[in-house]
Amino acid sequence: MSDEMKIQTMMHEQRVFEPSTNGSKDAHVPDMDAYEALYKQSMDDPESFWMQRTQELLDWKTSPETALEWDFSIPEIKWFQGGTLNASYNCLDRHLENGRRNKAALIWQGEPDEDVRVFTYQMLHSEVCAFANVLRSRGVKKGDTVALYMPMIPELPIAMLACARIGAIHSVVFAGFSAMSLQNRIQDCEAKILVTADAVLRAGRTIPLKPNADEALAACPTVKQCIVVSRAGLDVDMKPERDCWWHDCLTDSMHSECSPEVMDAEDPLFILYTSGSTGKPKGVVHTTGGYLTYAASTTQQVFDLKDNDVYWCTADCGWITGHSYIVYGPLCLGGTSLMFEGVPSWPAPDRFWQIVEKFGVNIFYTAPTVIRALMREGVEWTRRHDLSSLRVLGSVGEPINPEAWIWYLEHIGHGKLPIVDTWWQTETGGIMISAMPAATPLKPGSATLPLPGVDIAIVDDNGNEAPPNQGGHLVVRKPWPGMLRGVWKNPERFKETYFSRFPGMYEAGDGARRDDDGYFWVMGRLDDVINVSGHRMGTAEIESALVAHPAVAEAAVVGMPHDVKGETIYAYVILGADEEESDELMKELRVWVRKEIGPIAAPEFIQFADELPKTRSGKIMRRVLRKIAAGIRDEFGDTSTLADPGVIIDLQDGRDDML
Ligand code: WTA
Repeated sequence: MSDEMKIQTMMHEQRVFEPSTNGSKDAHVPDMDAYEALYKQSMDDPESFWMQRTQELLDWKTSPETALEWDFSIPEIKWFQGGTLNASYNCLDRHLENGRRNKAALIWQGEPDEDVRVFTYQMLHSEVCAFANVLRSRGVKKGDTVALYMPMIPELPIAMLACARIGAIHSVVFAGFSAMSLQNRIQDCEAKILVTADAVLRAGRTIPLKPNADEALAACPTVKQCIVVSRAGLDVDMKPERDCWWHDCLTDSMHSECSPEVMDAEDPLFILYTSGSTGKPKGVVHTTGGYLTYAASTTQQVFDLKDNDVYWCTADCGWITGHSYIVYGPLCLGGTSLMFEGVPSWPAPDRFWQIVEKFGVNIFYTAPTVIRALMREGVEWTRRHDLSSLRVLGSVGEPINPEAWIWYLEHIGHGKLPIVDTWWQTETGGIMISAMPAATPLKPGSATLPLPGVDIAIVDDNGNEAPPNQGGHLVVRKPWPGMLRGVWKNPERFKETYFSRFPGMYEAGDGARRDDDGYFWVMGRLDDVINVSGHRMGTAEIESALVAHPAVAEAAVVGMPHDVKGETIYAYVILGADEEESDELMKELRVWVRKEIGPIAAPEFIQFADELPKTRSGKIMRRVLRKIAAGIRDEFGDTSTLADPGVIIDLQDGRDDML
């Protein structure tokens, strides 16, 4: 096993928990026998399995003729050919007829507690049609791209669904990203329109957003129009020929039916940018029929979503989790999805629990970093609220450490609720490995078993399936409907990133092992991608931001273990010949990265260095840098290829001086 792999640090967790809901007859997957039967059926004949699933879950305008055409060597993947449908129709219109018209589709809890908006399916339909009419009237057509750079306000899912309605491809950019990041993404997808807001409300502060949009648009000639939601009532600079307030665009006449565009199964639904180990973020492309089938199927099986449930996923719609598990999955199933604008710790660390009590939340889906942060605040905060409505708990974004898992179970899960630890990626479109709440015995720290229809395995460096308990690369051997269909306008990168190292398989980029029971233990990324608070950051991106600063000659960025965030960003920086190391410069570099990429990318630690550990061929030895950052004094592995072994000692001394 290659030394690069973090999977050496295997967990030795032995505990097994039988969830209290085990054997619930009314669950979608009632017990382990049902799971095993489903899984077997899906592996024996994946095509009929998925064909049946999509017919059960979606309303197709024209039924698909074939389930799947694929060839990973090109790569090309086509699901449900010949079928036509519309995603917004499936998430809205059909629920007007099936008894859910007056059911809450979206419950929005704004940051101030009194800011609550509830949209029934009828109301959401009306708002989506209205905004779809706005987009159409402004010349947006099927196949055009629309960028959405918005806070967690209802207008964001409304705009997403409005795009879906008229066949426009949305590209949501997380509102925490900087103007430069927004600019890069808009330039790459050539958006025609940008939808944004005056400001973001966050932890009691009003953070202007429109100036970032203006800065980005200065170099985005494709964007001719910008629609601005007034979230905070700020008096912002509006360019009359380009900008229009959302409320001014939405005249009464817009609130009429807007006929949904008929889309082919493989027409793109959205693009979402994600970090990779090299270059700029890549535009992951998801298509209509397969993605929607997969989002709906996984929401139903993993969360056991039922008609009366209040379901809350705490992610931001700027990430894939928000796309699949706030918007498309739950709404496609006719569920009630709660959307929250604020942060877990404001005004106090019981904010999440207070919301659970207020709305009687039944299903709660969050990230390990949130659990760890709230754990630190003390258990008293959880005791202030009645959490008895909860039925299923979920986790996503990184491996959940057993300590956090147990705390989640004890203090949020009344000591008995099922915790579904869900492994997946932006590229997979939906959950791939997870327990089923009424079926799967749980092991803290393991995402447990693959979902029906998912042929996932662990292979060694040569692509051979690894024996139990041996770490290796996580791969998927067959297509699943939710998988990405490409990297926007970059087929070479699509092939190179996911299908080149192990021919005939999709390479996830994660390291994992399977135990004797077949349970998956995901250890984390094997490439130069780090996971900070469940968010993916490419080290190459941060490095290129750092070296763009005039004082910096060279930079190397690694992840450093962090109690709450999982990993934090540690940067080694070599300054230009005439530059002086100083605290001010350190601060300046942090601010610089925030501006170049966004606050989530700002290095927590910056160590000024004279030299980096490089091989004789000039390649930076990142595993050495990771170990130095982590404070590990030995176990450097083979350093015989290092050009100058003395560098390690210098860097260790530098770290000691700094911390
Ligand atoms: C990591 C987020 C372990 C993993 C949905 C993956 C996880 C990356 C888990 C994708 C989990 C996500 N256990 N690791 N339950 N969930 N990851 O694209 O390294 O933002 O490759 O998608 O997060 O991050 P992304």
